[in-house]
Amino acid sequence: MAMINEILSLKKERQATILAHNYQIPEVQDVADLVGDSLELSRAAANLDSKVIIFCGVDFMAETAAILSPQKRVIQPAIGAWCPMAHMITNEQLRDLKFLYPEAAVVCYVNSTAEIKAESDVCCTSANGVQVVNSLSEKEVIFVPDRNLAAYVARHTDKKIIPWNGYCYVHDHLTAKEVRAARAEHPKAEVLVHPECRPEVIDEADFVCSTAGMGKHAKASDAKEFIIGTEMGMIHRLKKENPLKEFYPLSKNAICQNMKKTTLDNVLLALQTLEPKVTVPEDIAIRARASIERMLATKI
Ligand code: 13P
Ligand code: SF4
Repeated sequence: MAMINEILSLKKERQATILAHNYQIPEVQDVADLVGDSLELSRAAANLDSKVIIFCGVDFMAETAAILSPQKRVIQPAIGAWCPMAHMITNEQLRDLKFLYPEAAVVCYVNSTAEIKAESDVCCTSANGVQVVNSLSEKEVIFVPDRNLAAYVARHTDKKIIPWNGYCYVHDHLTAKEVRAARAEHPKAEVLVHPECRPEVIDEADFVCSTAGMGKHAKASDAKEFIIGTEMGMIHRLKKENPLKEFYPLSKNAICQNMKKTTLDNVLLALQTLEPKVTVPEDIAIRARASIERMLATKI
């Protein structure tokens, strides 16, 4: 409790805002000013007034905030909290792909490095991938780095999708067999899964949505029970917002190790020292910003 009070008073003193992704540990979610999905957090980073952003998430999210708000000091409390999928494609590999498909537009999932965003025409998140792709005039679209999100988007567009073979180990491990077993155990529950899941898992689900989409759906639905096919951290927020409903994780092994590296200790240290600061080289940031801003301007 003393540490929480110290965090809250230092946050005021520093004029800082704490942003936390839905997969953060419960204690960190509870001290945050906003808990959200990648799209909500990037919108917040672009529009916030505060001088300092404490970003509780993984590298590409904090980088996106720094790219959108170069005048703010963006701090990522957990050193080495990175998204493995974001590093599954290199700049050279993307350039080779562009060479092979010169007519194609390039869409990068926000779970990518700043360099990949800079090489892309437009960025997307799991909440708006389909709308972003459908908003383009090109008939062919290179979609990197997530093969599962690419497959999901491909089902909802007439465009030819050229996917990259990256994946999120947390979602890619979820199986259709697990969905069937969870349904057998909780027959009245609705099954919500993230579009980073494999197509065969998506086929078994009732709804496919980003983490923020899961939050909205759970509130609006008449169902009282839900099976949640995403990272375990999501369960905390869902239970907190819907105390009379039940949420069951599709798999208790769905844990993103890097999302768990942010703790109250390193949030406090970040507020005390205003380090480690997230920086993106200006030449890359300018080009990456254009692809993120194009996404933010897309109507969804
Ligand atoms: P959301 O944008 O749905 O929060 O997903 C981000 C992420 O990293 C999923 O693994
Ligand atoms: Fe990356 Fe997967 Fe972790 Fe999301 S859950 S940050 S996609 S490794």
